[in-house]
Order: sequence, then structure tokens, then C-alpha cells
Amino acid sequence: MFKKNDFDNLIDRKNSRSEKWDSTEEMFKVKDLLPLWIADMDFKNAPLILQALNQKINHGIMGYSIFPDSYYESTINWFYRRYNWKIEKNSIIYTPGAMMGLSIAIQAFTNEKDKIILQDPIYPPFYSIIRSNKRKKVLNSLKLENNHYEIDFNDLKKKVILDNVKMIIFCNPHNPTGRVWRKEEIEQLGDICIDENLLVISDEINCDLVFPEYKFISFASISKKFEENSITCTSPSKGFNLSGIPLANIIIPSSELKTKFNVMKQKYGILDNNSLGSIALETAYNKCEDWLDDLKKYIKENLEFLKKFLVSNIPEVKVINPEATYLVWLDFRGLNYNNQTLERILMNEAKVLLWNGIHFGKSGKGFRRINIACPRLTLEKALNRIKDALRKNIR
Ligand SMILES: Cc1ncc(COP(=O)(O)O)c(C=O)c1O
Repeated sequence: MFKKNDFDNLIDRKNSRSEKWDSTEEMFKVKDLLPLWIADMDFKNAPLILQALNQKINHGIMGYSIFPDSYYESTINWFYRRYNWKIEKNSIIYTPGAMMGLSIAIQAFTNEKDKIILQDPIYPPFYSIIRSNKRKKVLNSLKLENNHYEIDFNDLKKKVILDNVKMIIFCNPHNPTGRVWRKEEIEQLGDICIDENLLVISDEINCDLVFPEYKFISFASISKKFEENSITCTSPSKGFNLSGIPLANIIIPSSELKTKFNVMKQKYGILDNNSLGSIALETAYNKCEDWLDDLKKYIKENLEFLKKFLVSNIPEVKVINPEATYLVWLDFRGLNYNNQTLERILMNEAKVLLWNGIHFGKSGKGFRRINIACPRLTLEKALNRIKDALRKNIR
């Protein structure tokens, strides 16, 4: 069976077609960068997933595939067992990735120039998907108080009544702040959206990475009204590190919304065809719960390591304590560097690639997102590089 210390294994991902490891040198023109940015993990997949995929590959034929009943059953059971959310089989719609699902939803339910609310700082591709679909973003920036992000409900109420605001992209758990929204927060947001006729796209693809002290509640699971006014993006890709096999299930309980979504999905020519993805999902949801729980323990230990390291060595850099995920939002503002100087120190001197906060919106200025889903030795190496580079620059 799976051994806990497998997460410590240093696996060389260079020359493995990894975006994180193989694209950075060309993109940033810096050699030997340690990439702690894109959200995938430097850990080997769960052994049972690899075994199931190998079995399919060894069968030897990669023809068109179907999603059998067992695919839907494993999805339904997973969300009920773990999150007490009852999903009907006919609410589950496959798309090759959550961003594809989001883009289809934007096209199916809004028109050009319509406004869509984002709660920044937020996952950068949300901005580009709104822009490329010729919609307009409206920001309901999160409030940062005592190192903790909260929704600004007064501001949200003001924004939802603007002309042509049709949709909100709600991110739970929130990337990059790591917030797992509490039931009261989700209820308040959902009620405002129903009152003002705003459709909620709830991106929940990080839900499997919520730490045990916090409770994940799916937006749609709150009430029938919320269910009917929402589209939820789910995927095993984050929790089980399967992003290279694009796969998402978009959950749409309302039959009216489902029909519109499917019409748009058909326009893209998307077929329900992904043999490796469907096998990986079923194996993950049916057989890899223990692996996921061990993974979260390891990530939590990495988080503690990161916090201790910063307190002892770079106390000016503050950790925004995440309630979920391996993405940690770091507040570098205490160092008083401008963006360019900090980027030079981190990228060119420390040679550590963190995701620059400015890409998450203006509210991300002075922040960086670090990905701690790596063996502890890699994390330690990156932090030491940052510490040494900052020391050299002390003014
Ligand atoms: C909140 C969120 N949504 C969507 C995605 C991308 O999902 P996909 O690769 O399935 O399009 C990510 C990836 O990190 C994410 O964090």
C-alpha cells in the first residue's frame, strides 16, 4: 500500500512536458528557476490511479470512449459521502476542464458587454476568460482584515444593482487567499444574487483540498433555490493532481440552464470522450480517499514549515493562513520593495518563481502566491534562496 513518506521523494520533472518545469526558462529568460507557481503538485499520483491507467494503456486501444454509469455513480457518491451534497446523474455535464466549462457558461448565459463580478485578488485566468468573451468585469474586492480575507457584502450589494450585471464567478475554496467560505457567508451571497437575478458560477475545483479543521459547503447544497440558480465546476484534477488529463464535471441542476449549456457545449463540438480521465476520476473517487487525506497532512506540515521558516528568517513576510489548498498567499508588503525590485530579487537573484500578486488584480500588489505542493526539501531550498537573496539586498 501507499507509504506516507512518498511525498518526500524528489522526482525530476524536467523534460517531462511539465508546464511548471519545462516552460519557465523560455518564458522568463532565467536559468535554474525553482518553479513554485502553477497549481500542480510535484508528487507522484496515487498508485491506484496509475495502476488503473496502466491497465487501460496495456489494453492497447485508445479509441473513442464512453462514460459508463459507474463514472456518474462514483461522482455522486463522492460528493454525498464527503460533502453531504446530493447530485442527480442528469445534472452532471462533462467538459474538458473547468475553464472550458466556465467559458461555455459565460457564452450561454450572458451577452457581449454584460458584466460579471469577480472577488479579487482572484485566479488570473478568470480575468482573461471574461475579456476574451468580450464581457466586462466588475470587482467586488475582498477585504483584508487582521491577515484574513472577508467578502465585502456592502460593496457587493452596490455592485449587483449596476446595469447589465448578470453573473458572479464565486470561487470556493478561494484561489489565492485559501478561504473556505462559511455557510452564513455563502447564504448571504446567494440571497443577494437571487434578489438581483444574478447567476452564480461556483468554481469548487479545489474543494477536495480543504483542511480537516474547516468544512467545505457546496453552494448548490444549501437550498433548492441556490441549486436552481447555480452552475458548479468540479474536478478531481486539483486534489488528485490530474490536470494534464483535462476533465471537469459541471453540475447544473436546473433543466432550463442545463439545456442552454448543452446547446453551447455542442457548438464547441465537445464529445463525452475521455477514457483516461474517466478512469482516473473513478479510481480517485472510489479508492483514493486515504491517499488524499495523507496528502493533506503532508501539505499541512509544509505549511507549518513555511510559517516557522518565515517567522524565524523573514518576519516581514506574512502568511495569509490558508484554510485549503497548497497555494499560499504571501504578503511581502512589509519589506517595502516596489514590484520591480521584489521581482528582480525573487526571480533573478533567488531564482525562485512565485506567481506575482499583480496578476491576481490590483489588490494583489505586494503579494506573491507560492505553491507548497512539493517535497519539503524543495520548499526548504526555495525558502533559503529567498532568504539569502533578501539578506544581500538589505538596505
Ligand atoms: C479556481 C480554479 N479554477 C480553475 C482552474 C483551472 O481548471 P482547469 O485546468 O480544469 O481548466 C484552476 C487551476 O488552478 C483553479 O485554481
